[in-house]
Amino acid sequence: MFEKRPKLFKNRDVLSPLFVPDNLQDRKEEVEIISQYLGYILDGATPPHLLIVGPTGSGKTVTTKYVIAELKKHTKALIKYVTAEGTAYQVATSIADTPRRGFGFMDVLDKIREKVQDRKAIFVLDEVDKMLGKDGDRLLYHLSREPNVCIIALSNRLTVMDMIDDPRVLSSFKPRKINFPPYNATQLIEILSYRAEKAFNPGVLEDGVIELCAALAAQRNGDARYALDLLGFAADIAIRNKQDKITEENVRYAQDEVEVEFIRRSIAELRENQKLLLYAVLTSNEKTPTRIYRAYNKLARQYGINSLTQRRLSQLLRELELYGLVEIEIIGRGRGKGVRWLVTPSSTIDDDVMLEAIRRSL
Ligand SMILES: Nc1ncnc2c1ncn2[C@@H]1O[C@H](COP(=O)(O)OP(=O)(O)OP(=O)(O)O)[C@@H](O)[C@H]1O
Ligand SMILES: [Mg+2]
Repeated sequence: MFEKRPKLFKNRDVLSPLFVPDNLQDRKEEVEIISQYLGYILDGATPPHLLIVGPTGSGKTVTTKYVIAELKKHTKALIKYVTAEGTAYQVATSIADTPRRGFGFMDVLDKIREKVQDRKAIFVLDEVDKMLGKDGDRLLYHLSREPNVCIIALSNRLTVMDMIDDPRVLSSFKPRKINFPPYNATQLIEILSYRAEKAFNPGVLEDGVIELCAALAAQRNGDARYALDLLGFAADIAIRNKQDKITEENVRYAQDEVEVEFIRRSIAELRENQKLLLYAVLTSNEKTPTRIYRAYNKLARQYGINSLTQRRLSQLLRELELYGLVEIEIIGRGRGKGVRWLVTPSSTIDDDVMLEAIRRSL
């Protein structure tokens, strides 16, 4: 069964999102800025807080991990990377390495202080918007007031600072902002070529395959993850067809699969109220705002989350529109009633793909 598999891959893992490459392409400038700030720790000073923002797949996580891995070789400071998913309490326990039971929030903060002791510390809070969508302010408030702690917050939301409501946090957490621009096609080609050389046996990629993946990902806001997925899925298809080379046609077919994967991921990333709202849009028979509003509030009760004002709901709908998950259609003025509009699920995405993704991640 396993004998006649085409040997295209040297190492498939190299294309996995979890793989941390030993070399970065095209992020020299960003690496330099981050390492300059963090380097203060080598002089015994606390580096300034940093906020790294850029679109999805622009290399924020990989670049930050790369710099802190280097820094760790030179310092005994406490450096801790966490994905800031969950509540302030949950994130605090990940930083402190304490179990999630039996300690109060303040106890966990004490544990963190104990760990830092009289050293300096760097805490990377990746995807910080997730925590800020909950009660994350609370953790930022305390951490940013510790004299020996530097916070590096990462987010793909340009407006992430607007998620902080507490003015006391804004006065102690004033990060230096570092922008990661989206990659262009040329940069994506470099990233893919480096990875492809480690992933594939020589000669298995037909000419133009990497360029095509890069071009398609460039259209997708320069998302390097999308580019790598495309290449990996194309290879899977080639193997399925028992080809000994990966072709441009394989990439075109891979697009559909990657698209589904992409949609799943972006839905999993939504906040709970956005997920429920999308669900309401998908399942309402009538796509008027009033009906959707009613359907949403019914779901919200079931899931034990707060119902929303009409106004807030309209904002959420606009957000979903920005993500390309719903379409808002103005259908002219109703008599004396101002503009009427309809909200429909995206016409380019299969409803079932969205429904399944929501069910899976709720
Ligand atoms: N400059 C680069 N050199 C090599 N690989 C890269 C580079 N930039 C990104 N990658 C790869 O692309 C993928 C996406 O990068 P990464 O996870 O860092 O994106 P991100 O900006 O953190 O995205 P998100 O906002 O979705 O978390 C990863 O597999 C990463 O290894
Ligand atoms: Mg990331």
